[in-house]
Amino acid sequence: MTPLDDKELLRVERLKKYFHTPYGVLHAVDDVSFSVDRGETLGIVGESGCGKSTLGRAVLRLHEPTDGKVFFEGRNILLCDKNEMKALRRDMQIIFQDPFASLNPRMTVSETISEALLIQKLYSPRDREGLRKRVLELMNMVGLASRLINTYPHELDGGRRQRIGIARVLALTPKLIVCDEPVSALDVSIQAQILNLMRDLQDELGFTYLFITHDLSVVRHLSNDIFVMYLGQMVEKAPAKTLFEKPVHPYTRALLSAIPAPDPDFNVQRITLKGELTSPLEPEPGCRFAKRCPDASGACVKADIPLRTVGEKHFAACVLA
Ligand SMILES: Nc1ncnc2c1ncn2[C@@H]1O[C@H](COP(=O)(O)OP(=O)(O)OP(=O)(O)O)[C@@H](O)[C@H]1O
Ligand SMILES: [Mg+2]
Repeated sequence: MTPLDDKELLRVERLKKYFHTPYGVLHAVDDVSFSVDRGETLGIVGESGCGKSTLGRAVLRLHEPTDGKVFFEGRNILLCDKNEMKALRRDMQIIFQDPFASLNPRMTVSETISEALLIQKLYSPRDREGLRKRVLELMNMVGLASRLINTYPHELDGGRRQRIGIARVLALTPKLIVCDEPVSALDVSIQAQILNLMRDLQDELGFTYLFITHDLSVVRHLSNDIFVMYLGQMVEKAPAKTLFEKPVHPYTRALLSAIPAPDPDFNVQRITLKGELTSPLEPEPGCRFAKRCPDASGACVKADIPLRTVGEKHFAACVLA
C-alpha cells in the first residue's frame, strides 16, 4: 500500500463496476483512479450515461465495486465488514439530484432532519427539546426560515427542497459528500444560490466534495480539480483553471465549446460531436471516444490509451497528447 499523507481523504485505485446484463457485461466504471484532499472538491463531468452516478455510488459502496480499492482516511473500505461500514456511513454521505425523490412526502422538514439525527443516534427520541434546537440550527445553516419547520416537501420550491436534503446530510457532519447533480433540476438563479451555500458550508466545516455534473460550467468555480469521464473511463484530469484554459482531450474540448460564451463577440469555435454516447457494453480495445472524435486515426483503436502526464497535475488519455 502506498503511504498516505494527512491531507488525503479519499483515494480510489483502479475502480471497476461492471453490470452483468442479458446483452453482455456493461463496463459502467472501468479502471478509474483518483484522490481527493481534505476540504477540496473534485468535479466529475461527462455526458448522461458515462458512469458518473455509478462511480459516486461505488465509492460509497452503495453499489458494490467489481474490482479496485477505495481508501478512506487510509483504510480500504472495500475490506470493511457491515458493522464497520455502518460506522463509516456517517462520514460518507450523498446528496441527490432530485430532492423531491429523496425526501419522504409525508414527513415535515422537522421530521426529515430529525430522522437523520435519530437514525445515527446523535439524539435520543426523548430529548425533544434538544432535537428541535438542533433542527432549527441546521435549518438556519442552510438558509431555511424557521417558520418552515412544519411544512411538507410539496409546499416548498425546488431550491428549498434541496436545502432540506443538504440539512439532512449536514446533520451527520460527514467528511466526504458525493454530490450527484445536486443543482441540475433547479432553475439557473437558484442553482447559483445552492452552489454558494455548498461552498460556504465547505469553507466553514471543511467538507470534501465529489461533485458530479454533466455541466462543466457548474463545477468551474467550485472544483479544485476536474475529472472528465467518457464511457466509464477518465479521459482527462486537471486543476479547474488548467482544464478550462488548456484542455487537451478532444472530448474535453467539445464539452467546453458547448458552454455558451458570456461575451457573444468572443467567438468560440463550437465543436459538434456526431453520434451519441453508446453504451459501454463489452467495449473494444482503444479509445472509447474514437468513433466520435474529429481527430481520430488508426492509432486510436489499436490498443487502450493510457493516461499520460501532459502538464503539472494534468493528465490526458489521448494519442495526440
Ligand atoms: N443497475 C444497473 N444495471 C445495469 N446497468 C446499469 C445499472 N445502473 C447503471 N447502468 C448503466 O451504467 C451506465 C452508467 O450509468 P450512470 O447512471 O452511472 O450514468 P450517469 O453518468 O450518472 O448518467 P446521468 O447523467 O444520466 O445520470 C449506463 O450505461 C447505465 O445504463
Ligand atoms: Mg447520474
